[in-house]
Amino acid sequence: MTESTGKSRIGVTGLAVMGANLARNIARRGTPTAVHNRTTAKMTEFIKEYGDEGPFTGCESVEDFVNALETPRRIIVMVKAGRPVDAVIEELTPLLDEGDIIIDAGNSHFPDTVRRTEECAANGIRFMGIGVSGGEEGALLGPSIMPGGDPSAYAEVEEVLTSIAAVVDGTPCCVHVGPGGAGHYVKMVHNGIEYADIQLIAEAYDLLTHVAGLDAPAIAKIFEEWNSGDLDSFLIEITAKVLAKTDEKTGGPLVDVIVDQAEQKGTGTWTAVDALGLGIPLTGITEAVFARGLSALRDERKKASTTLSGPAPGQGADRDDLVEDIRLALYASKVVAYAQGFAQMRAASEANDWDLDLGAMATIWRGGCIIRARFLNRIRDAYAEHGDVENLLMVPYFTDAVANAQDAWRRVVVVATEQGVAIPAFSSSLSYYDGYRRERGPANLIQGLRDFFGAHTYKRTDAEGYWHTRWSQDGTEVASGGQPRSEASGSTSLPAGTDTPASEPDTGPKAE
Ligand code: 6PG
Repeated sequence: MTESTGKSRIGVTGLAVMGANLARNIARRGTPTAVHNRTTAKMTEFIKEYGDEGPFTGCESVEDFVNALETPRRIIVMVKAGRPVDAVIEELTPLLDEGDIIIDAGNSHFPDTVRRTEECAANGIRFMGIGVSGGEEGALLGPSIMPGGDPSAYAEVEEVLTSIAAVVDGTPCCVHVGPGGAGHYVKMVHNGIEYADIQLIAEAYDLLTHVAGLDAPAIAKIFEEWNSGDLDSFLIEITAKVLAKTDEKTGGPLVDVIVDQAEQKGTGTWTAVDALGLGIPLTGITEAVFARGLSALRDERKKASTTLSGPAPGQGADRDDLVEDIRLALYASKVVAYAQGFAQMRAASEANDWDLDLGAMATIWRGGCIIRARFLNRIRDAYAEHGDVENLLMVPYFTDAVANAQDAWRRVVVVATEQGVAIPAFSSSLSYYDGYRRERGPANLIQGLRDFFGAHTYKRTDAEGYWHTRWSQDGTEVASGGQPRSEASGSTSLPAGTDTPASEPDTGPKAE
């Protein structure tokens, strides 16, 4: 820490709960912190309530705020994602000097962060997009922090950020993620995994309720037990608490009177959309997003429930086996969801040249964030022992864990299907597992059909290159570019220069 110049080392603008708690966390560690809010009253209230917690400087105007900071100025912006972030940047930029740093700590969409980095750079300002996970409590007591942006900018704020982050085994849950939008990208995938985690928990709860016939307090106890084993995690821990909560008004379980319509701010959707663009099969997270959408159709579902026929769940099943089966299915499906999320980060890192350290991402997710879990130690170890793995399922620990769980997993998918309980994440994860371990699947027919109707060509198992069959002409097969196959291969030869396939295969990217 440099000798205080009477100025503040860092500033926070945006004092809603997350911003306020982050500022409190920083100042409580002794870092002189300037605070500002667009509505001045909020800043004065903040100082009145928390001013004695640390070396705060309350600033009424943006100018006072900028002038209160030592250089290079380090400004954390904690406002709603989207246009508000741009508005704050526009207001600050004319007041800043070359080399100053603007840090967006909100849940911004990473393409916006890439754009803002470029826009700020044009004005000599270093921009950082940092993911901050752990909600309001995390912001105050120790979040997981995923800083992206210029390494020189990170060097200026590393001391402050690592001082406020959660700490696991003496290691702060904060490390420079990579350049540009990398930090917000990793936070986005964190949230996507969070969606999958929560959906899997909801499906386990649904099965325990409607197939095992258990009530919320009984299920709370089951989740509490599960939390002492491999499923040990923040989300399993709070699931037990939510299910155990008694509603003051009815005297029954609170969860029984909560409306079954999930909402979403959109980070899970961002994750799924980006995975589709990368061609990464992100089934667990995407099914979790779809499930929220289906839950939102409450009025339609009410009508459909009296119209569409199907088995009514609850014919019961051997409870002890079923509960243990569900635990194993939950764990195996969780492994798949994380394997997919990390595969997506790996693909994004290659596509954007970010050089992400996936083991480090698992390490900083062990504490502070919403998906914090014992499980993440296993992922960190996997990368430490095996380096750049293509898919976590291929790491011996996870290979064995899923092998051990899969019979139970299959029994759960069967009983849910037989009893008409929707388990999109459980079942899609099993299908992903079965698809991933298949040496030869049915996509050969897909290629044949695409070639028939669109002359999109196909590869052969016994020859190089791409091929097309003249389905609607003489049925002969020609090599891509129209070169014929030899007679011996059972396809007629076409004289050189013969017309290429009826419709020229599109020149888009070929299937590799
Ligand atoms: C976190 C949380 C945080 C927020 C979620 C909610 O990491 O601290 O993920 O970012 O609570 O974004 O997301 P949904 O409203 O989309 O569920």
